[in-house]
Amino acid sequence: DAAERGEYRHYMLKEIFEQPQAIADTLDDRLSGNRLRPECFGNEAEALFAEIKAVTIVACGTSYHAAQVARYWIEAFAGLPCSVEVASEYRYRRHVVPEQALFVTLSQSGETADTLAALRQAKQSGYRATLAICNVPESSLVRESDLVLLTHAGPEIGVASTKAFTTQLVALLLLTLALGRGRDIDETEEARLVGLLRSLPLKVEEVLRLDEQIAMLAESFVDKQHTLFLGRGEQYPIAMEGALKLKEISYIHAEAYPAGELKHGPLALIDEQMPVVAVAPNNALLEKLKSNLEEVRARGGQLYVFADFQVPLDETDGVNVIRLPETDDLLDPLIFTIPLQLLAYHVAVLKGTDVDQPRNLAKSVTVE
Ligand code: G6P
Repeated sequence: DAAERGEYRHYMLKEIFEQPQAIADTLDDRLSGNRLRPECFGNEAEALFAEIKAVTIVACGTSYHAAQVARYWIEAFAGLPCSVEVASEYRYRRHVVPEQALFVTLSQSGETADTLAALRQAKQSGYRATLAICNVPESSLVRESDLVLLTHAGPEIGVASTKAFTTQLVALLLLTLALGRGRDIDETEEARLVGLLRSLPLKVEEVLRLDEQIAMLAESFVDKQHTLFLGRGEQYPIAMEGALKLKEISYIHAEAYPAGELKHGPLALIDEQMPVVAVAPNNALLEKLKSNLEEVRARGGQLYVFADFQVPLDETDGVNVIRLPETDDLLDPLIFTIPLQLLAYHVAVLKGTDVDQPRNLAKSVTVE
């Protein structure tokens, strides 16, 4: 056990640091020069994707958050309507299946009972095809789907998912590219997106260097009961994932809100006892987000803002800014995930919880 963990104190930390390699492995073979290899989804995929008019993605837990990010990408880059739902909800309601729709399941294990049940149901419901994005080649989900794209994260031992999540995001970017070809993504745009994907492992490595700084930051969270995570746009699901990581392993109650919803409820909770974590990349929504953060500051909230170097934001009393390397908007969800994983990890270590095996949770939920 210790041998496999190597120099790392926990599997979770090892897996966080394995992300540059896991991402590179997931990209490997799927790209050729400036292009996505269309056959990476199977030989039939290219013709089939050309017929697709809508996408439905179903998943649970961390995988559901990756699916939420993909909704923004598929609509923004591929121009296809995309809906996302947790599998346990999807499977127990009547739904209207859009014409020529692709049903996508997203799962690290490929054995999550609700996701598998949703797939089996979808196969009877008139979808054009099913696609599994999964980390385990011999899993039920992979066996039972028409198309498969494997994430190459390698075995993930820590119950709190880290490298499986970021490799799912990479796989979902590949799906966005495959669906967007011949639609909103022309050759120039494809070459740009592929170039960005190729730059990702090094970028993630750069962000991992924040580890020590985040370990220090974690001290401000140990004695807290609650934390609020804020994001906007495709960073909202990243805020959700940050909150999930923190609650899973540190047992601090954490929830995420799209920052624009603050005034519809959560502002009532703000005081100096509730840290507010915000993800603030330099994108079109930055000004909106900054005014949301002002609302928090005005009520005495303690802010921890993850922002890239371009974001004009001063460290003042009650505002802590953690700077991330500048990246393209496309990569931001991946880049901003890393410090939130590290934050949850270090808070859990300080609290002395069982980081790799948090109480009451299982790595894979194979019964309902
Ligand atoms: C469990 C795990 C989570 C995981 C979720 C979905 O709750 O603890 O880490 O995200 O199941 O698992 P899957 O294997 O379908 O991605």
